[in-house]
Amino acid sequence: MRILSVVGTRPQLIKAAALQPVLRRDHVEIFVDTGQHYDDTMAGNFFGELGLARPDHSLGIGGGGHGDQTGRMLIALEPLLREAAPDAVLVYGDTNSTLAGALAAAKLGIPVAHVEAGLRSFDRRMPEERNRVVADHMSRWLLAPTAAAVANLAAEGITAGVVQVGDLMLDLAARVSSRVRDPAALVEIGARLGLALRPGGFLLATVHRAENRAPEAMAAWTGLLDSVATADRPVILPLHPGTRAALTAAGVALPGNVIPIEPQGYATALALQLHAAAVLTDSGGVQRESAWLGVPCLVLRTTTEWVETIGGAGSSAVLVGLDRVAAVRELALRAPADRSAELATERARTLSLRGAGAAERISAVLAADPAGGDRA
Ligand code: UD1
Ligand code: UDP
Repeated sequence: MRILSVVGTRPQLIKAAALQPVLRRDHVEIFVDTGQHYDDTMAGNFFGELGLARPDHSLGIGGGGHGDQTGRMLIALEPLLREAAPDAVLVYGDTNSTLAGALAAAKLGIPVAHVEAGLRSFDRRMPEERNRVVADHMSRWLLAPTAAAVANLAAEGITAGVVQVGDLMLDLAARVSSRVRDPAALVEIGARLGLALRPGGFLLATVHRAENRAPEAMAAWTGLLDSVATADRPVILPLHPGTRAALTAAGVALPGNVIPIEPQGYATALALQLHAAAVLTDSGGVQRESAWLGVPCLVLRTTTEWVETIGGAGSSAVLVGLDRVAAVRELALRAPADRSAELATERARTLSLRGAGAAERISAVLAADPAGGDRA
């Protein structure tokens, strides 16, 4: 098939890196980058690091309000889709680039394949939830990562074209994690960042959700980080540029033991998670990766679409929202300061990740066209 795939943000470049080699082996890919993310640290650097092909079309859309950004994507995509006339358009995840790709294709009657179909937080206030619902209802191939996602689609009356393919990001994490298992990788990263990093000697945090960029939310999560950070176990915070801008605009300062750094490359982000005492995040990708790596994860949200990662004690994730008392309590249970080094060292030593086989399944599903020819 001739498949036009649409990416635009950091996590989509990461997902594309897992799928692209297999997709290009079995199909012809036309690769389109909306340019929703545009800084080298958020986008450009990932092409080289992850061996992604140069896009056939770079739309250069950049930031902006939701309607403005999505609208400009639609305007740029429509003539391109007409001209390229692909057999299918493939979109990843739940961003505005996902929505625009799905909508532009559906309006031209081009079948849509949605990778990460069926995820639901059941919180329609989230832009991501609105994007995923629309993309799913526009799609012919619903490539669901989990059993819960398949059930969510069934509850909305969608069963045709639904296939549980596993999680593409696990394929990539399995490929890369073996390279960062050695604590020497952490020492090298520390040297590059000018920080003395030891296994279990720091907490890793990422915060970028729209709801966590409101001034009250920023006051709450910076306060939460202040409650868990110490001089002996600081919080390392690779800062999304949108969050950095929001903190500056609202005049919210980071606490003393919270160390902001630039957004990092993929292997570095994985290494920082693996060797951390624990992770605090509102990122869907980081939440899953920390579960696969076995790192305790405090989710700075009150809902999640990745329900599999939430549950019992031990290494699973827990939703703490922006509740600092809950964060301190859960951290003491899951990553006690006096055992951090020992637990992190043992975790890295015993790590053995196997890929999900999602890339192979997605490519095969598209080749076999299980949805039949009667539904666009
Ligand atoms: C987007 C996705 C979110 C995803 C996240 C991954 C939507 C609605 N949201 O959120 O689901 O989890 O990407 O990281 O699509 N900015 C820069 N440089 C960049 C990119 C962004 O400075 O390279 C700043 C700009 O001020 C921009 C703001 O961040 O306006 C927000 O960026 P945007 O792409 O609109 O949304 P994200 O918050 O990144
Ligand atoms: N990530 C990265 N550099 C960073 C922070 C995160 O490469 O500085 C990776 C992270 O390991 C995961 C992905 O980015 O693979 C998650 O993307 P993000 O948090 O931007 O989006 P979400 O998953 O929430 O949609």
